[in-house]
Amino acid sequence: MGKILITGAAGFIGSQLAYRLKKDGEDIVLVDDFSYGREDNLIFDDADFREEIYRKDIRDIEFMNKLFKDNNFDVVYHFAGITPLPDCQNKPIEAVDVNVKGTVIILDLVRKYGVPEMIFASTAAVYENTEVFPSTEDVVNPPSLIYPSTKYAAEQFCRAYHEAYKIPIVCLRFTNVYGPHIDCLRTQPPVMGYIIRELFEGRRPTLHSTGEQRRDFVYVDDLIDLAILVRKNKDFDIVNVSTEKTYSINEIAALIAKEMNLETLEPQYRETAHFWANYPELYDEPYPIESKLLEHEVLKYTCLSNKHAYENYGWIPQTNIEDGIKKTVDFTLKKLKSRW
Ligand SMILES: NC(=O)c1ccc[n+]([C@@H]2O[C@H](COP(=O)([O-])OP(=O)(O)OC[C@H]3O[C@@H](n4cnc5c(N)ncnc54)[C@H](O)[C@@H]3O)[C@@H](O)[C@H]2O)c1
Repeated sequence: MGKILITGAAGFIGSQLAYRLKKDGEDIVLVDDFSYGREDNLIFDDADFREEIYRKDIRDIEFMNKLFKDNNFDVVYHFAGITPLPDCQNKPIEAVDVNVKGTVIILDLVRKYGVPEMIFASTAAVYENTEVFPSTEDVVNPPSLIYPSTKYAAEQFCRAYHEAYKIPIVCLRFTNVYGPHIDCLRTQPPVMGYIIRELFEGRRPTLHSTGEQRRDFVYVDDLIDLAILVRKNKDFDIVNVSTEKTYSINEIAALIAKEMNLETLEPQYRETAHFWANYPELYDEPYPIESKLLEHEVLKYTCLSNKHAYENYGWIPQTNIEDGIKKTVDFTLKKLKSRW
């Protein structure tokens, strides 16, 4: 059995993938530069990857070249990336450098060293300007924000490498992922991490607009099931990763508050124009960010079709939202309490 490389292995999803593959008896090699990754993501009840992870930037070509040369990788899971939307918007050159150039670096090493399979973490955010629901893999209109633009471009490079060299590649478009290890501490955490943190700290969570906007979610273990199943791909594929079930942000907030017994801390609401208030530079004159774009981002409905994943890989997500939220809350509270 060959080795498996995971980039972004100190992140929310990459670390869980590492744990799962290790438990399955796979030989894993981990890389992360800790720009967003966290030490505590690498500690599990019965595993600890802190000593074995390479603390390196995927753009360190000399290091990465040696890593590929020294290891006969069977699969590369390229999950490293700059994920928070406002960070990408605020630092577009860095976002393109990591998310696009970084992906091309990995693709070229996969080509050079003949790795039999690459799996790339793309995103549902590429459907930003798509109005077909549930969105199927073939209905993407070019996005407007920097983060989805970088992933859209990176997908295109995956396609180009497949077409030129016939490398088997799968781009997984994750919708909103949740589960243990979800980030709750960064400036703009994912919505569930944010709500849990605010309630834990005794604050009413601030939601934008009415909170009635609906999103689809997927539990991290279900995503990992699919990330393993797609290894049978021998071609090029783009696969949505979604439950196809939507919940309003109000419903999500209520489920979390119920789980934490903090229903009295009801959400408060703020205009969409303040969505990225933690990033005041984005509102600078002479070209402040378009309020219509922010409004669209806040109000947009997301629901990805999972038909392709079912029909081609037999994947059916197993976790219902109540169980998934319970596990997410339990884990996140443990983490937050250990900080105080
Ligand atoms: N979490 C979601 O809901 C979601 C949804 C869609 C797509 N994705 C994608 O899935 C992947 C994993 O997401 P996540 O939620 O685990 O994010 P994350 O931020 O927790 O993990 C990404 C990891 O990549 C690392 N990284 C960033 N730049 C790097 C570099 N130059 N070299 C090495 N490592 C670097 C970070 O330190 C971090 O640990 C990302 O590519 C993200 O864009 C996530």
